[in-house]
Amino acid sequence: MPATIDVEALRRAEFPWADRTDRVYLNNASTGPLTQRSVRAAQEIIDDRIEPFRIDDAKNFAMLDRTRDLIARLIGASKGEIALMTNTTYGINIAARALPFAKGDVVVVHDREFPANVYPWLALEGRGVTLRRIPGAGSLPDEEALVAAIDDPAVKAVSVSWVAFSTGFKSDLRRIGRLCRERGIRFIVDAIQGLGADFLDVHECEIDILACGGQKWLLSPWGTGFAYVREELVRTLDPQPVGWMAVKGSDDFTRLLDYDLTWREDARRFEVITIPFQDFAGFAASLELFHELGPRAVAARVASLADQIVRWAKASRGVTLVTPGDPARRAGIVSLVTRDSAADSARLNKAGVAHSLREGALRLAPHVYNTSAEIERALAILDAG
Ligand SMILES: Cc1ncc(COP(=O)(O)O)c(C=O)c1O
Repeated sequence: MPATIDVEALRRAEFPWADRTDRVYLNNASTGPLTQRSVRAAQEIIDDRIEPFRIDDAKNFAMLDRTRDLIARLIGASKGEIALMTNTTYGINIAARALPFAKGDVVVVHDREFPANVYPWLALEGRGVTLRRIPGAGSLPDEEALVAAIDDPAVKAVSVSWVAFSTGFKSDLRRIGRLCRERGIRFIVDAIQGLGADFLDVHECEIDILACGGQKWLLSPWGTGFAYVREELVRTLDPQPVGWMAVKGSDDFTRLLDYDLTWREDARRFEVITIPFQDFAGFAASLELFHELGPRAVAARVASLADQIVRWAKASRGVTLVTPGDPARRAGIVSLVTRDSAADSARLNKAGVAHSLREGALRLAPHVYNTSAEIERALAILDAG
């Protein structure tokens, strides 16, 4: 059993605004709040910058190093497999551009993927690479069809969202990863709607490249994120695009003009420095919170709040659950359609309940700091509709 979280203490320390009686925030799938410790850590670097003689390069680069380590430990990777990136899309582009695709190759995705996992692949079409979008089963991704589709020798990569942005459907990464590895197909995962609400081990799931932004479930500043690239793969891939610190020896700022294009051994070859130090300091601080609380404990709490919504939806007439009822097939996102979702969305907004309307469904996305009472408040508004 994961340790239980003292939610009151957590709210007091990290989310003091959450006790406002006129607002409930259930929109973590759009943007998560910043933790207080994240704000303080970012502010410290901003303060250094305001009085620039306080800028400390060694401190900033050590912080980036610590951030890579915190990410690695969260996903069962090693630090050398982590490249810091400013968003999810950047990491998907690393996969699309650095993997050696050739004319006639096929990349498989689910239809209705978030565009960040579509456009970087579509952009390969000029090179003769086809993007095959697997139609859904109803509104949900069709995992059986995806699995069947990879039995084609032309398929060279499969790229899925761990958790789908509009339906909350959670992919079975272990299953897809195993099948891809057996066939020598590259397996790419967009983890932004899962990581922070749930946890995974990249090696157990046999993922080749994973991309994730920090701005949602990881409770971190905009402009933070990372890509995981499996160790054996790192050494075989040339970085695209090429950063000035992608090469060996570039930590020595006294010898920048050696122009030696020997890539770093680790995933830092994919980084394009300079990145926002203040934001990554905030990222590191929030990642530390996840390690303190325990990713399993966070996931258990998010799941129990999501369960509360699912139970209500199943018991309510006129409400259709879009997200699968099976807890193994969802994380923090619960999407549902009511008799008049647009009108109900407006009523939630009027009552101060932040959520999203995605593809005609109400998307409720509670995080670790939310309370059961807050969920009840949101559901009572829907009941009164
Ligand atoms: C599945 C998915 N991928 C990617 C993104 C965003 O990508 P980025 O971090 O590049 O803005 C979102 C949400 O905005 C998303 O839901």
